[in-house]
Amino acid sequence: MELEKLLGEHVQERLATAERFAALTGAGVSAESGVATFRDPNGLWAQFRPEELASMQGFLANPERVWQWYQYRRHVIESVRPNPAHFALAQLETLVPDWTLITQNVDRLHHRAGSRRVLELHGNLEENHCSRCGTPYRQEIDADAPAPPRCPACGGLIRPSVVWFGEMLPADVLADAERAAHRAEVFFVIGTSAEVYPAAALPLMAWERGATLIEINPTATHLSTIVHAAIRQPAGVAMPALVELIAALRQR
Ligand code: OAD
Repeated sequence: MELEKLLGEHVQERLATAERFAALTGAGVSAESGVATFRDPNGLWAQFRPEELASMQGFLANPERVWQWYQYRRHVIESVRPNPAHFALAQLETLVPDWTLITQNVDRLHHRAGSRRVLELHGNLEENHCSRCGTPYRQEIDADAPAPPRCPACGGLIRPSVVWFGEMLPADVLADAERAAHRAEVFFVIGTSAEVYPAAALPLMAWERGATLIEINPTATHLSTIVHAAIRQPAGVAMPALVELIAALRQR
């Protein structure tokens, strides 16, 4: 009842009848799994310098340190589990006719919760590629080596396949995400500060085309002034309740 009141009649009507849904998730969706966010007071960027750990210059200046930092993050992720927000989003995929899940996260927790199609805007921590020739590497290299292995093809340093500052997003993934934002009738923005572009432009694109924008974040962001509803709760609490409500509304 509380949630229904908060959303209001218009938003509920859209949730009941819309065909095309999309969501953009950020680090906040994995916070309750025990994965650190970036810009919260205890976030990664409060402890580490992004230019040293998330840029090509930083990697070339100290390849071992950068390689080991991503190794550490991969080990954290291997030791945690998806939380109720990830599972609720996987369920939502089965409830609506047209669904696109866009994530900025590199942790693959959406996949592990059962989401079948996930657009990973910023890459992921499982894959690596050569920083010189681009050859992808997965099982073929020792990802636990103390220093980045050399590419057997060209001798370049192998790096994690995450997008660093100053780099382009994978063009095909971004194009799919933009298409989904243009088409969406309902767009959820979940657990992101919406400060990093071009990801942060996606909810704006959806809003400009008339989508109903719903923010799930305990803290307001600069998007909060334009959203049609804001649920100020942790995603692990809000998303199961929201998906349950959507299921009920669509059965009526
Ligand atoms: P941020 O750390 O910038 O923002 C995390 C957001 O999650 C904040 O708005 C928090 O209020 C919110 N939050 C925290 N706990 C939450 C919870 N339990 N439920 C819901 N929301 C919660 O992370 P992102 O927006 O994902 O880029 O950051 C975007 C990009 O910046 C990242 O993908 C990363 C970083 O630099 C790359 O690695 C390329």
